[in-house]
Amino acid sequence: MSDLCDILSALRWHVDIGCDEAVADAPMDWSTFAGRPQPASRQPAAPRAPAAPTARTQSTFGAQPAATPDLPLGASEAGTAARARAGEAKTLAELEEALRAFDGCPLKRTATNTVFADGNPQARIMLIGEAPGEDEDRQGKPFVGVSGKLLDRMLGWIGLDRTTAYITNILPWRPPGNRSPTQAEIAACLPFLERHVALVAPDVLVPLGGTSAKTLLNRAEGITRLRGQWFDYAAPGTGKTVPVLPMLHPAYLLRNPISKREAWRDLLTLRQRIGHTG
Ligand code: URA
Repeated sequence: MSDLCDILSALRWHVDIGCDEAVADAPMDWSTFAGRPQPASRQPAAPRAPAAPTARTQSTFGAQPAATPDLPLGASEAGTAARARAGEAKTLAELEEALRAFDGCPLKRTATNTVFADGNPQARIMLIGEAPGEDEDRQGKPFVGVSGKLLDRMLGWIGLDRTTAYITNILPWRPPGNRSPTQAEIAACLPFLERHVALVAPDVLVPLGGTSAKTLLNRAEGITRLRGQWFDYAAPGTGKTVPVLPMLHPAYLLRNPISKREAWRDLLTLRQRIGHTG
């Protein structure tokens, strides 16, 4: 009985710290992650031999670094590779294909699906969330879980839906346990988002929540300071500037329903800008 209690309390502890899903059969030591994750082992590590030249260390000046399943890219190489691949995409379909083929972000390994976008790419409004959650990871679409249901209701308040809005995220892969994305993960994926915005060319961008707003606007302030104000986004590679209206994230509103009045105000600001039909 006491063994069972120990197991249950260990399980509860794991859930409390965010381990809500088993992503592999064997545990991995991510603190020593440097390539393909190895099952954690209790054996002392063998002394390391000097690194043999690899595809990465041998890369010649000007050549694009290439990730292999055994050797994922470092943060700045990942950003460079992402920029090159995303930049080649001339259509959204090509961009999605390039993103699915991109191995420079380790989150891809633990995610079930690449979550690209949902809604109408011809829409005037492009909403940008943070990253897929559990439901989005399973279904491969952004904002399909509880916060997505609230987002749909919020859009409905101003006469919009997924036929008149387009939705994506800063990151296309779910961070394990829904933890916050790291700067390295964001940097690796940002070129894809920038190309995504350039190809959709929306009239208005709406970052949802602090991570999205700070990333897009390159600002340090939190979302409670940024929300409800208009900013300009100089869309890379387009020479165009897109108006940006940061708003509170629906998941935040679910935890803080009192803040719905601010969200309502921001939605009215948005509607004023785009008119009633979107
Ligand atoms: N939260 C987000 O930021 N994006 C999603 O797609 C789902 C939840």
